[in-house]
Amino acid sequence: MIGIKGKFYVTTPIYYINYTPSVGSAYPTIAADVLARWHRALGENVFFLTGLDENSAKTVQAAKEAGYKDIKKYTDDMAVKWIGVWKKLDISNDDFIRTTEERHKKVVQDFFMKINANGDIYKGKYEGLYCDGCEAFYTEKDLVDGKCPYHQKKPKVISEENYFFRLSKYQQKLLEHIKKNPDFIKPESKRNEVVSFLKEGLQDISISRLGLSWGIPLPIDEKHVFWCWLDALTNYISGAHGNWPATLHIVGKDISKFHCLFWPAFLMSAGYELPKAIFAHGFFTVNGKKMSKSLGNVIDPLYLAEKYGVDALRYYLMREFPFGEDGDFSEEALKNRLNNELANELGNLLQRTLVLIEKNCGSKIPEGETDKILQNKLNLNKIRNHMEKLELHFTLGEIFSFIAHCNAYVNEKAPWKLKGEELNNVLYSLADSLRITAILLAPFIPGTSEKISSQLGARLGNIDECRFGLLKSGEKIKKGEVLFKKIK
Ligand code: ME8
Ligand code: MG
Repeated sequence: MIGIKGKFYVTTPIYYINYTPSVGSAYPTIAADVLARWHRALGENVFFLTGLDENSAKTVQAAKEAGYKDIKKYTDDMAVKWIGVWKKLDISNDDFIRTTEERHKKVVQDFFMKINANGDIYKGKYEGLYCDGCEAFYTEKDLVDGKCPYHQKKPKVISEENYFFRLSKYQQKLLEHIKKNPDFIKPESKRNEVVSFLKEGLQDISISRLGLSWGIPLPIDEKHVFWCWLDALTNYISGAHGNWPATLHIVGKDISKFHCLFWPAFLMSAGYELPKAIFAHGFFTVNGKKMSKSLGNVIDPLYLAEKYGVDALRYYLMREFPFGEDGDFSEEALKNRLNNELANELGNLLQRTLVLIEKNCGSKIPEGETDKILQNKLNLNKIRNHMEKLELHFTLGEIFSFIAHCNAYVNEKAPWKLKGEELNNVLYSLADSLRITAILLAPFIPGTSEKISSQLGARLGNIDECRFGLLKSGEKIKKGEVLFKKIK
């Protein structure tokens, strides 16, 4: 990741407020959380922002359906739910931005005035298609069988006076920026897609909607409210607390066009620096089917977290889906990862180690040295490299390969047959390796890492404490409950 040294500002999409978090919205939020925690453990200055997109017309619709007269009250009640779910999922965001907040409204209006002052706004008539689901203007060629490819709905035909943004003016500049900055759009496949889209030419876009009562008014014409995407994208500045530009925007591939084309063009026009990188992750289906409200197969992450544990859910999502690729969500696969990797491999390793220390060392970390051969099985550079490249699944793969080596080491050394110094060295090696493993896993499964450290009588350290031999001898272990219970 090319960024600004020592600083890491990461964002998630801000989610529409008309539903409660699905496992879909949990996915980029957990990924951003993992990265934020990793960079904090590297000692960097981290700012992690998530929030809610509240000014869409679907907010009004949903409020009415839920029986609310006061739409703002509806958003306040929904926001409490979203914040509650992120808390349960151990999301460590530094702020939470809501687009109905005054601080946001002011920034959007100011941002727009800069674009306007740059001569990039004009009044025109928009005649064409609009999908309420996407909150996007479409042309015939964007549709599949005449329907929005994301919502399988026929878009509305609208004809209204709008304010337009001169997107076409930024085609060349955008292309140049993408060419000069190979890490700007990732993964590579998405970058290529954006480049070919750009080469076909860009048309100006409508950035206001007429006659809507919900939304942020245009300062130059109060009959209009901002098109909710210009409004929503600006959250990355209104919630930045002076940290702009972002190091990394994590977005789903469904909204990459807004982030890779429109957002940078708005920023160029308003005279702001561009984000350092935009990463478009893949989508998952559920048991082979698209997850959607109409199919009734939207999965509630809280249900999963309660049934399998927060860390099993976080682990599964980060381990199962190569970041950037599509995948299929299955509860069966989650259960298998919980039972095999978390309970059998990680949980048992800790349990075996603590039982042996309890029995043989009076529950104190023995004096010893960490086995050199075992030390060499941990490839920290590889792990750091995978994290740099946002290969989160490979990072976990590498950490778990070390755990497998630790388990093989127990079997090979058979400590139950050893005594004295030899035994102490083996047990110290295992405890020290577990201490380091806890540090490396902490961004992914923070609660579990805390438990491992405290059971070892140690403090959860930073990445620079992933050096062998730092575990203090003589500390009392605190064997607790098993880390993961297997589920049938
Ligand atoms: O688009 N698989 O909000 P949104 C993986 N408000 N990720 C999924 C997913 C799935 N099946 N379903 C959803 C919006 N996501 C706008 C964003 S940003 C300035 C405004 C994730 O509530 C994915 O990251 O529809 C997707 O981009 C995001 O949720 C869309 O959330
Ligand atoms: Mg959506």
